[in-house]
Amino acid sequence: MPLLEVRDLHVWFELPDGGEVHAVRGVSFALDRGERMGLVGESGSGKTTAIMAVMGLLPASASVAGRVLLDGRDVLAGGEEGLRPIRWRRVAMVFQGAMNALNPVRRIGDQLVEPMELHGVARGRRARLRAAELLELVGIPPARARAYPHELSGGMRQRTSIALALACDPSVLLADEPTTALDVMMQAQILELLGRLADELGLAVVLVTHDLAVVAQTCARAAVLYAGEIAEAGTVDDLYHRPRHPYTRLLFEATPDLWGEVAR
Ligand SMILES: Nc1ncnc2c1ncn2[C@@H]1O[C@H](COP(=O)(O)OP(=O)(O)O)[C@@H](O)[C@H]1O
Ligand SMILES: [Mg+2]
Repeated sequence: MPLLEVRDLHVWFELPDGGEVHAVRGVSFALDRGERMGLVGESGSGKTTAIMAVMGLLPASASVAGRVLLDGRDVLAGGEEGLRPIRWRRVAMVFQGAMNALNPVRRIGDQLVEPMELHGVARGRRARLRAAELLELVGIPPARARAYPHELSGGMRQRTSIALALACDPSVLLADEPTTALDVMMQAQILELLGRLADELGLAVVLVTHDLAVVAQTCARAAVLYAGEIAEAGTVDDLYHRPRHPYTRLLFEATPDLWGEVAR
């Protein structure tokens, strides 16, 4: 049984003018413990909507159909009640642009302690200790817990937002464009970090990106999303060498240099 399974997921957004957008159209994928999978597609293809649906974090204008199974149990069936014990504690998310969304007036150590206390994972001194451990885990010296976000580099801020997602010790991390705002060197470091977390913690990672080269560096498997549907899915190697959908080829062609590096 897979750790996380998404079956025939649909999302519709109701528009203010009475119209409707069918943003996610029957998406299915499965993920094993410790596995890393890419969810790739151009801007507007439905990546963020699909993973926000898994977290149960879509706005009220959204309707969701389909199943999200965690260890075989449907987490959407129970509504908000069913999701609350799972969100952050079992399935966590790094939001698109998260590194810029850290609270600018709070020290990063305090920001790490907050979700632990909120979800009853740890409090007081134990939470502080765990915050230090988390910083160390993502490659930030624990003494930096006293730093404010603006005192950190973009890469360090992204590491902090990953640490935040890990605060309640989830088994699945949904990372939405975690490297998009970073330069190539920083990108490589964050991807290396995600790979290491998957290996060391047995964390399953869905890496959401518009960049197939990013997925090729990090994941063995990927699903290609096109206009809300999975155009094709398979090993990154197959997607590159034997694409069945012309769109997949186009996504690779968008980033020839990096892929060349990876393919060797
Ligand atoms: N809150 C919303 N209301 C209406 N339409 C939305 C909303 N959020 C996303 N969409 C639409 O859903 C589609 C998928 O968007 P999104 O999931 O953000 O794509 P991606 O993350 O792949 O760039 C787009 O057509 C977008 O305009
Ligand atoms: Mg997005």
